[in-house]
Amino acid sequence: MFPMAKNWINERVKIDAHEVAEKINEPVPNYMKGLWFCLGGTPMICMAIQFFTGVLLMFYYIPYQDVAYESVRYISYEVRLGWLIRGVHHASAQVMIASLFLHMARVYFTESYRKPREITWMFGVVLMGLSMGLGFTGYSLICDQVSYWATVVGTNIAGATPVIGHYLLLFMRGGEDVTQSTLTRFFVLHVAILPAALIVAVAVHILFIRFHGIHYEQEDANAKKDGKGFYPFFPEHVLNEIGIFMTLILSFAMFSYFFPPHLGETFNPNVTPEHIKPEWYFYGVFRYLKLVSYQIGILGNLFIGLCLFFWPFIDQAIEKILGFAGAKIARYALGMLFVVVWATFTVWETI
Ligand code: HEM
Repeated sequence: MFPMAKNWINERVKIDAHEVAEKINEPVPNYMKGLWFCLGGTPMICMAIQFFTGVLLMFYYIPYQDVAYESVRYISYEVRLGWLIRGVHHASAQVMIASLFLHMARVYFTESYRKPREITWMFGVVLMGLSMGLGFTGYSLICDQVSYWATVVGTNIAGATPVIGHYLLLFMRGGEDVTQSTLTRFFVLHVAILPAALIVAVAVHILFIRFHGIHYEQEDANAKKDGKGFYPFFPEHVLNEIGIFMTLILSFAMFSYFFPPHLGETFNPNVTPEHIKPEWYFYGVFRYLKLVSYQIGILGNLFIGLCLFFWPFIDQAIEKILGFAGAKIARYALGMLFVVVWATFTVWETI
């Protein structure tokens, strides 16, 4: 029965199942058993959890400014297990962003973005931007005081972009002010456009990882030739990832029970709250923007974003100028400087 079904499919779908299995089953270097090295799987797991819980939340969330807050309150306190779904969605979003930062740091400090992995890195930077966009638009959907005012401030910052700022603000808000049009736009971005873009970008990212294989050091490359130092993707690596998934989902559920996501008072466009806070992963940027004018801040952020995107090429240029050893030191120093400044600004904004 099974071979017949297999033949039937093979005659219609001209893909060699063995070839696909072989490609998927590429050996993984032993060091990928360490959490620091296999961190790329965590945002992927979180992304799947986000999609699943997000669809469930959509059954009850109403994207109309007059009732959006009430629908979130209803989900949180009245819908059966609504608190759990909202809590897991919220916790998973935080861990997705945190694991992305760590994944990016490990790729940077292990120099895994270098030739031939430049495109993998560039798609990674796009993924980072999309994930932060999802965080920003998702936060605005709650429509409590802090979330509403964070949307006002966030779009004001975008509005300060030189030359195109005002058009950008109008485009984001759907008018001069944060109104129903803004909520509609952010809702569509959050549930359709950004997730679709994320899926495509992750697919390309993973495809490139499969093309090049995971980066490994020379001694690992030698070990690969000897057939040592590697373990199979299936079932070992898949089982590791399933273990991480189980741990994450249990932790998210427990976290939702003991620390449910906050819901403040309903929004009031006429009363500005004393403290307007974005999500924690924007704290560093927010503090920096408070230190300089919005315009300089935006230009600075654009510059940093572009440097990150083109980093593999900048890195090559630095190596040409400083030589191999000099570039290694410069790379490490720059990375550490970036991490320390960002962490300091984040902590500064928290206290
Ligand atoms: C939703 C976002 C992302 C997902 C799902 C993802 C997933 C993955 C996975 C599964 C791997 C295999 C190795 C590992 O687990 O570390 C990987 C490797 C890689 N990622 Fe990501 N990643 C994401 C974002 C990023 C970001 C933000 C960057 C950097 C800007 C990045 C750059 C890279 C590079 C260069 C590699 C190849 C590393 C190597 O060969 O050792 N990724 N990614």
